[in-house]
Formats: sequence, structure tokens, C-alpha cells
Amino acid sequence: MPEKLRVGMVCAAGIGASHVMDWRYLDKQAEITAVMDVDEEMARNTAHISGGVPWTTDLDELLAREDVDAVDICSPPFAHADQVIAAAQAGKHVLCEKPFTVNLEDADRAIEACKQAGVKLMLAFPRPFSASSRRLKEMVKTEELGKPIRIYSSHHMRAEWLRKRTGWFFDPKKSGGTAIEGVIHDFHFFPWLFGPAKRIYSEAGTFIFTDRSPTLPDDQLVVLWRFQNDAIGIIDGGANQPSNFGGHMSVFFTEGGVKMERGGGFAIYRGMKEYHPVVEQVRHFGRMGDDTDIAQSPFTPTGHVGEIEHFIDCVVNDKEPETGGEDGRYALECAWAAITSFQTNEPVTLPLQKPYPRY
Ligand SMILES: NC(=O)c1ccc[n+]([C@@H]2O[C@H](COP(=O)([O-])OP(=O)(O)OC[C@H]3O[C@@H](n4cnc5c(N)ncnc54)[C@H](O)[C@@H]3O)[C@@H](O)[C@H]2O)c1
Repeated sequence: MPEKLRVGMVCAAGIGASHVMDWRYLDKQAEITAVMDVDEEMARNTAHISGGVPWTTDLDELLAREDVDAVDICSPPFAHADQVIAAAQAGKHVLCEKPFTVNLEDADRAIEACKQAGVKLMLAFPRPFSASSRRLKEMVKTEELGKPIRIYSSHHMRAEWLRKRTGWFFDPKKSGGTAIEGVIHDFHFFPWLFGPAKRIYSEAGTFIFTDRSPTLPDDQLVVLWRFQNDAIGIIDGGANQPSNFGGHMSVFFTEGGVKMERGGGFAIYRGMKEYHPVVEQVRHFGRMGDDTDIAQSPFTPTGHVGEIEHFIDCVVNDKEPETGGEDGRYALECAWAAITSFQTNEPVTLPLQKPYPRY
């Protein structure tokens, strides 16, 4: 392995462009050596902002390059599985954007290909890599506020994100709909924090985007959880959030609670049975979990840089990614339990049995 991890960007519009900035920020540890996008203009522009590296519209050409150790796949969900498999077969380590895939069988194919090739596979879920999430996870582990009993997350995809020039989101065969494309962050985060699900029940409907896609089943989605540890949870999800609407997560324990704002706010409530619990406002957590004012830190509270840094660490130091293929698949399985539930009007018990539901 050379001194720096050499990365090929696969698709570089929306989140890909943001990853390019993250890779460049981590330029002591990694460098982008080539760019691929099916859109020629996008490939050329991204190669330019990546330092004038070579670009192509052909994935095989990118994968044939000897100066690419790993790929960062930022294409839409329907393209992920085949691109992961092609990269693995070319011997490249893989960082793949969420959701892993739309259908479970495709996730299984991709996991198997990476296993066979002996390459790392990491799913790009940023939330576990924000310092506030690390603090929360530590609180679950140490039982600082007692046992975890309830989790709530409001997760609505931002309206401006849906105004992108390509319309793949509105076709569930391409995106998986709101459950898989957007709310997958919570379908991953809930088990990451509370452990596996026992049962999932959901209600959904398309109320807003009826003109964009007659097949999008879930622009509004509410999901109820029962975890194997008996805790309960709610996801309040959808695909229409105004950009300034915010979003938050609350986690309740037997002796207190935590309220986490998307922008980085973190309040700890101690004394669950008190009329006025003691509230500890933590300004923002820096990347090391210290009480650093984010304004003075180059790290956003969302975990994107930490996620990419973790991938580099796993490849260079031969570690297993914390958000690996099986975690990405489990998130997808939970999302499919919710989809099956709103399709059948029944609670769904996990694990799902074959034949798996699919779009
Ligand atoms: N982690 C996050 O917070 C986050 C945020 C946004 C998007 N995402 C994920 O990133 C992925 C892409 O979303 P986006 O918003 O950047 O999409 P986008 O439509 O803005 O960009 C997709 C890019 O992929 C290219 N592309 C399309 N089809 C392709 C194909 N078959 N092969 C190769 N390239 C192809 C397009 O030319 C474009 O450059 C999705 O899986 C999405 O869920 C993650």
C-alpha cells in the first residue's frame, strides 16, 4: 500500500462533490487519482476540482487503473450493487454510499463478491461518525442514564435535495422510495444504537408528490419499532422537509434522556422521574468527543469526514469497517420490513424470510 490511499471517485454530483471536499481535506492520508461519472461534463468538472486528475465515463477503465486502490461509489442506489461487484472483482476496496442497494438479493451478491475478493466494504453512513453519536453510544454502553427504553427520530429529506436535475428518486425501483433512499439513515442508526429489531410496523402514503410519480409509495412514512432488548422506537419520516425545518432525535433511558439536534445540539436530562430534571446543555461535540465549539473546529457535526477517515483507517490498517456490508444489509432489511408493513397493513417480524420482497 502506498503512503496515501489512492481513490477513484465513482460519480461525483450531489454527495460525490461533498466527498471530494472531504477527501481533499484528508489529503495527508489519501488522494483522488481518477474520476468516473456517466455524465461527461460531471466527470470532467470533478476531475478538475480533484486536482486535475484523469477522468472517464467508463467504470471498467477506472477499475483497470493501477493507481486506484479503492473506489468511493456515490451513484444512485440502483447502480450500487453492480458497481460494488465490479470494483471487488478488480481488487479495489469499496466505500459505497447508502442505501447499500434497493433489493436485498443485490446486497447479498455485493457482500459475497467483496468477501470472495478479500476487499474492504464500507457503507457510507455518516451519523455513527459524528462525535455526538459516539457520546450517545457510550451512554448506552455505560448505562450512564440507565437502560435505553425509547428512541424517536424525525427524518425528512430536504425539499431542495429533491429538486435535483435527475429524477431517479421518484422511481422506487431506482431509489427504493423514501424508506430506502432517505429514512435508511434511521434504519441504520436505530439498530446501531439499540441493537436488532424484533418487530416493525409502519404507515405510509404519497400525499405531496402525486404529480411526480404515481409509483412512489411513501412520501410520508411513520415507523414503530420493538427492539430485541424490548425498547421501543418511532421514526417520523418523509420526503418534503423545508430546508430550514431542522430535525432531531430523542433517546430516553430509565434515568434520563438525551435530545440531539441535527445541527449538533446535545442536551442531557438527568432524573427521569423529576418534575424538572437537571439539564446539561453540551455546546457541540468536537470530533474527539470533547466539548469543542464547532465554530472553531474544521469538522462538521454530521460525521462525513469521520466516516471517510474511518474507511482509510480500515483499508490501511486492515480493520473491519464499523458500518460494513452486513450493517448496510441489516438497515435495508429493516427498511423492507417497514415497506412490507405498509403494503400489508400488518406488523412485520424480523428477520425477513425468503423470498424477499422487492421493487
Ligand atoms: N450520506 C448522505 O448524507 C447522502 C446525502 C445525499 C445522497 N446520498 C446518497 O448518494 C447517492 C447519490 O445521491 P446524489 O444525491 O448524489 O445523486 P445525484 O443525482 O445528485 O448524483 C448522482 C451522480 O451519479 C451519476 N450517475 C447516475 N447514474 C449512474 C450510473 N448508472 N452509473 C454511474 N453514474 C451514474 C450522475 O451522473 C450523477 O453525477 C445515493 O445513494 C444517495 O442516497 C447520501
